[in-house]
Amino acid sequence: MRVLVAGGAGYIGSVVTAALLTARHEVTVLDDLSTGHADAVPAGATLAAVSLHESAPVLAEVRPEAVLHFAAKSLVGASQQRPHEYWETNVGGSLALLEAMKAADCRRIVFSSTAATYGEPESVPIREDAPTRPTNTYGASKLAVDHMLTSYAVAHGFAAVSLRYFNVAGAAYGLGERHATETHLIPIALEVAAGKREALTVYGEDYPTPDGTCIRDYVHVEDLADAHLLALPAPAEGEHRIYNLGNGTGFSVQEVVDAVRQVTGHPVPVVVGERRAGDPAQLVASSDRIRADLGWAPRHTDLAGIVRDAWTVSQAR
Ligand code: UFG
Repeated sequence: MRVLVAGGAGYIGSVVTAALLTARHEVTVLDDLSTGHADAVPAGATLAAVSLHESAPVLAEVRPEAVLHFAAKSLVGASQQRPHEYWETNVGGSLALLEAMKAADCRRIVFSSTAATYGEPESVPIREDAPTRPTNTYGASKLAVDHMLTSYAVAHGFAAVSLRYFNVAGAAYGLGERHATETHLIPIALEVAAGKREALTVYGEDYPTPDGTCIRDYVHVEDLADAHLLALPAPAEGEHRIYNLGNGTGFSVQEVVDAVRQVTGHPVPVVVGERRAGDPAQLVASSDRIRADLGWAPRHTDLAGIVRDAWTVSQAR
């Protein structure tokens, strides 16, 4: 298939681009390189370095049969301080992309949504029919795009899938996380293990969990790529599907730190800090729906394996 990958120079987008190329799809990456890296775009894909707001000429020229849309601002903290950027890029940019698709007669899309659309869960594991009450602008902006896709499916015959990622981690095809501002637990812990940072601050150890630290569902980026390839042809015209993507097993911050120590063989000094605003105690996915509908099954559920893949790629740079 001829596909356009918006945000294909970022962490998840570049891994999925590599997976699409391996599956012999023809890929154009659209990315304004504001947080992505041109050298992360796999050889074999063509890069158009423009923003979502400028996507119409690219769509008109490439005439893709489908779009995979990863392009977004994704820092929860920044979304609270500078909401305008999140509404403009995540919502305004997505609207421009959908309009560009419509104009180019392309109606198939897989969108990167997030567990942050659910907010503080009433119960875990979280299913797709759980209430969506985001607790930050990032989650609200992603939820707005989910709603946009439902209405474009109904009104314009779009065939859409929203994949709600939980905590994406690990590395594949030599591509891992590389953010100028790193906020995620595993890459920060690996930087501490590598001696690039002094210590990891654990954001609270008084949560109602067995060891007092927050529990998250870490899903390997390669398993996520599998899900995108399965999701791409799945919906019929006029259909918008929503799927959670996680391992269904939660690991605490303490367990992640232990895994990083074990995998790297290096000390990881830890300082216990305050809770980070807006962090729920537990976020664990039920991925039963995508397992049942599309036969998706994660292959890398072992935390040490996820950490090892991230470590190996971070050491190679
Ligand atoms: N944590 C620390 N210290 C750090 C960094 C993180 O203790 O230096 C803790 C956090 O408090 C949290 C856990 O490690 O309990 C994981 O934090 P991350 O920042 O790695 O991930 P989040 O769960 O906050 O965020 C992820 C995605 C977001 C998404 C959110 C909810 O990265 O995009 O899940 O779906 F919004």
